[in-house]
Amino acid sequence: MDKKVMYDLSYGLYVLTAREGEKDNGCIINTALQVTTSPNRVSIAVNKDNYTCGMVERTGAFNISIIDESCPFDLFERFGFHSGKDTDKTSGIELGRSQNGVVYLPSHTTGFMSCKVVEKVDMGSHIVFFADVTDGEKLSDNAPMTYAYYHKNVKPSAGKSQTKGYRCRICGYVYEGDPLPDDCVCPICKHGADDFEKI
Ligand SMILES: Cc1cc2nc3c(=O)[nH]c(=O)nc-3n(C[C@H](O)[C@H](O)[C@H](O)COP(=O)(O)O)c2cc1C
Repeated sequence: MDKKVMYDLSYGLYVLTAREGEKDNGCIINTALQVTTSPNRVSIAVNKDNYTCGMVERTGAFNISIIDESCPFDLFERFGFHSGKDTDKTSGIELGRSQNGVVYLPSHTTGFMSCKVVEKVDMGSHIVFFADVTDGEKLSDNAPMTYAYYHKNVKPSAGKSQTKGYRCRICGYVYEGDPLPDDCVCPICKHGADDFEKI
């Protein structure tokens, strides 16, 4: 199979946030979808290794902030390249807090929605959560960022990099070394060696 066919599925980009006790955290996802309008329900697919996944599983609540085209790469690095297991990703940036107690991003986003989990399906590497949208606010008329826009305009391109190695075509993570091991799995988005390109 030519796995490149999968690259043409269109996605948006989102910051998925959750709160557990006093801990706020979040991660970048591209897998938010509206599944029904009445009731208003969405689904998200979250890797089990993500700290945010466990937080959503245990609390049953999350917010989705819709990233817009003004969003700098910094924000992807903060929420998409580090884990809340080791860092406080929410320190030093502007945040709002919605009625469900969960934080959202008021800048570089078109708005946010608050969600309550109604069902989850274990898909092996990921858990798919289905959730009711309980609240939401539109914050700007900026264009929402698509995954294609992120690849073309935001993610550092392989050609411009000073680092030698292989870059994950999916999220931009760089494996420093040559050759790339056949069993390499991106620690960020968990895609395999086929999805890496040589820098
Ligand atoms: C562009 C981009 C898209 C991503 N999409 C997803 C996704 O749909 N689902 C997912 O589980 N992780 C996705 N990730 C990876 C997580 O954001 C990343 O593993 C994060 O560091 C997890 O943080 P946490 O451990 O604090 O939850 C994506 C990362 C990037 C940069």
